[in-house]
Amino acid sequence: MNQQNNCDVLIIGSGAAGLTLALHLARHADVVILSKGPLNEGSTYYAQGGIAAVFDENDSIASHVSDTVIAGAGLCDESAVQYTAENAKACLNWLIEQGVAFDKEDKTEPASQKYHLTREGGHSHRRILHAADATGKVIQTTLAERVKQHSRIRVFERYNAIDLICEPTNDNNDKKQCIGAYIWNRNSEKVESIYAQKTILATGGASKVYQYTSNPDVASGDGIAMAWRAGCRVANMEFNQFHPTCLFHPDAGNFLLTEALRGEGAKLRRPDGSRFMPAFDKRAELAPRDIVARAIDYEMKRLGVDCMYLDISHKPSEFIKQHFPTIYQRTKDLGIDITKQPMPIVPAAHYTCGGVMIDQHGRTDIHQLYAIGEMSYTGLHGANRLASNSLLECLVFARAAALEISDSLDHNNCFKILPRWDESRVTDSDEEVVIQHNWHELRLFMWDYVGIVRTTKRLERALHRVELLQQEIEDYYRNFKVSNNLLELRNLVQVAELIIHCALARKESRGLHYTLDFPDTLAEAKPTILSAKSRPNKSLGPNADKSSE
Ligand code: FAD
Ligand code: SIN
Repeated sequence: MNQQNNCDVLIIGSGAAGLTLALHLARHADVVILSKGPLNEGSTYYAQGGIAAVFDENDSIASHVSDTVIAGAGLCDESAVQYTAENAKACLNWLIEQGVAFDKEDKTEPASQKYHLTREGGHSHRRILHAADATGKVIQTTLAERVKQHSRIRVFERYNAIDLICEPTNDNNDKKQCIGAYIWNRNSEKVESIYAQKTILATGGASKVYQYTSNPDVASGDGIAMAWRAGCRVANMEFNQFHPTCLFHPDAGNFLLTEALRGEGAKLRRPDGSRFMPAFDKRAELAPRDIVARAIDYEMKRLGVDCMYLDISHKPSEFIKQHFPTIYQRTKDLGIDITKQPMPIVPAAHYTCGGVMIDQHGRTDIHQLYAIGEMSYTGLHGANRLASNSLLECLVFARAAALEISDSLDHNNCFKILPRWDESRVTDSDEEVVIQHNWHELRLFMWDYVGIVRTTKRLERALHRVELLQQEIEDYYRNFKVSNNLLELRNLVQVAELIIHCALARKESRGLHYTLDFPDTLAEAKPTILSAKSRPNKSLGPNADKSSE
């Protein structure tokens, strides 16, 4: 018999989105936060550049909206953009109240209220608040400390959510409601369940589906896959953002070189030292990311070289050390002195612009199930996300969801007994190599066939391989006990399928989706929406295998 836990509100994910929601809600409800790894491990912790909001009197919300819409290549939902830009300042002030210390203009005068605003590609003003080049670390650790101090928040660390548990709603049997999730306790290696009146997915993005990524290991699209299996619609999965500048070095791991470097004057160069961005776009190094990443990819392929270079060495050494201390130290440890020499760079998968469809309150298609943060599709980013709008989206939509949830909580609600997880037919995995092999294969063909430049033939090839892998992984999942690698692989292959189907459905090039077969942009911009009814294949539903009612 598996152990059942109970709470009012279950938040799956402990990044900026999940922690913000928990802190807003804990006055009203008993909250459980589930975190797959250590509490702080997620993309939020690694964010460098900062958060966009209008703090300068010469800037305006209209300009933030306009820059977002231009970057989004005609596909943003303008009401979501307007809502986000209007709420940005209040959300950042909330963060500041929690203790997040953004850099001030004058570091020697901390009482001064003027924040130092940096600039990134696609922004027509300086509007990025930041904490040097480690903004995410400061936000994550500050919010995590607040969460740990709260008596109504329990944190389940090292727990993977496996699948959502849903039942028909009382009033309408066609509609489902979510009543919790199956969760895998990595400490005891046992599957448990958790009942919740409200369940919120805040599991971050899916960029780990690609071989090269700026993201940490937890970014395996679990929430998107779980929601899809449960019957939610997903949208715009073809728009995976590739960050133009990740450090190219055998020992660098996934280390990002923030766009704020270019915002502060860094130039992109070929191996011979010449610049190339002015030939691609009049905004040169400050063009939106899709344009910069494609230009780098084009030049690398044209010249047959492994990397390009990013150069800030013309700036004063003190300026570089003060604004980019993390990058300065990390590169120095690898033998590169960025005050004197350029950094080798390559593009890498960075951000999932599409995701689970939600409304402006974070509600999904399933009753009592919400989604926030990178895994959700709000319409804010359209076909390409503007830099530093992502952490902002986490804050704005977590606050919106908190208002909705606190208003609709039933304080007389009773816990329900959940269907148990049946492991009677599974055994320990006999061949771990199958999982490892499929992991590598999936991420490599996603990089080669579904990357920065696509063709229909490559996408079809990738789809064929995904379908084979899906069958193999589902068989494996049914027959063997779960493990972190197996759970993540099952989700990644599901997300890969969604990305490919969305990419095949888009018969044009727009924003981050660039295909040689349809190089033009169509006059009418439409999101790509996948639903269970239009379900492109026969992949298995949730709990098809291991729960018994
Ligand atoms: P995350 O912070 O990724 O958190 C996801 C959480 O979900 C983690 O706690 C994880 O353990 C948990 N989780 C996942 N699956 C499961 C599961 N099955 N069960 C239990 N828990 C699970 N954006 C900006 O706006 N500005 C920036 O400067 C910026 N810089 C970036 C730099 C880097 C290197 C990266 C990778 C991203 C950057 N981004 C930036 C993007 C931004 O950081 C992310 O979009 C944002 O932090 C996502 O927050 P989140 O709360 O949605 O998810
Ligand atoms: C960066 O610092 O370049 C990343 C910013 C972002 O992804 O928004």
